[in-house]
Amino acid sequence: MSNQATEEAALKANKLAEQHGIDLSKLPKSMDMSAESITANVHAINSYCPDERMKFVFKSLVTHLHDFVRETSLTSEEWMTAIQFLTQTGKMCSDIRQEFILLSDALGVSTLVDTINNAKPPTATEATVLGPFYTEDALEVANGDSIASEGKGDYMFVEGRVLDTKGNPIAGAIIDTWETDGDGLYDTQYSNREKPDCRGRLFSGEDGSYSFRAVVPVPYPIPSDGTVGGLLKKLGRHVFRPAHLHIMIEAPGFEKLTTALYMEGDPYLMSDAVFGVRTSLIVKPELVDDKAITKARGFKEDKPHAYLKQDFVLATPEEGAGARKAMRSAASATVTA
Ligand SMILES: [Fe+2]
Repeated sequence: MSNQATEEAALKANKLAEQHGIDLSKLPKSMDMSAESITANVHAINSYCPDERMKFVFKSLVTHLHDFVRETSLTSEEWMTAIQFLTQTGKMCSDIRQEFILLSDALGVSTLVDTINNAKPPTATEATVLGPFYTEDALEVANGDSIASEGKGDYMFVEGRVLDTKGNPIAGAIIDTWETDGDGLYDTQYSNREKPDCRGRLFSGEDGSYSFRAVVPVPYPIPSDGTVGGLLKKLGRHVFRPAHLHIMIEAPGFEKLTTALYMEGDPYLMSDAVFGVRTSLIVKPELVDDKAITKARGFKEDKPHAYLKQDFVLATPEEGAGARKAMRSAASATVTA
């Protein structure tokens, strides 16, 4: 390149950089990188980030990522396998399928993030992972109505109250609930899905009460036709989740609660593929073999049904913040002990 061409190229590059608020002359020199120097250089060039939180997160991310590559002596083939895996994972995602959340779940990241961010005071209902099957399009159902169409599984009636930590009822709370049908599938896993099923949205009454008809959830394998299923197979892990009913509750003045109820006696309680089970969320529905009650609760057939009574206790933002502060203190005490 001639001197003039070099100067022109430099002018052009400086002009382009200025448009993004960057002074090329002040950037650290990132040449002749070695396995030892690369990390510090990436930190140096990222240090211009105006967002302090983002700068902090990326410094940690790059540190751990580089250390991971060095510690494992990652091969080029393994790196490419990872790139292809992530590419395929992205391609599996759609409006009703989230393979990345599933990946996060299967690697325990979702539970970790949830634990750090959603710690609740002991008097409030514990949170657990959202999972990949929540959809926005659940239909609104009145209290006592069914979230599942007829024939989707064994009958279950669920009722209880939404309360604050002092036991006062919370009226008008939005309750989203979703579950598998009796075959262990969410509605979104059927290619011929025409409308939401085994999911619904209802509101707590003046006394905080709610009730709905549903089906008894069953254990199910997380989708194994995608990248995550393939990964778990290679890791020698099973893909099952214990039976559960998802619940998400929102009410003004309270922290949103994303949780689930797990059925006692399920064989996968201790080895949930996505690490979501908490002891306080294990419930034991009772069997009701009384035709009059079955009829009164609106079930079509007069066969026995499961009955699940469960209150949910919401924490205020202040109570939640206090619980998270206490958790962080306990964690740092453990680290320094
Ligand atoms: Fe689930």
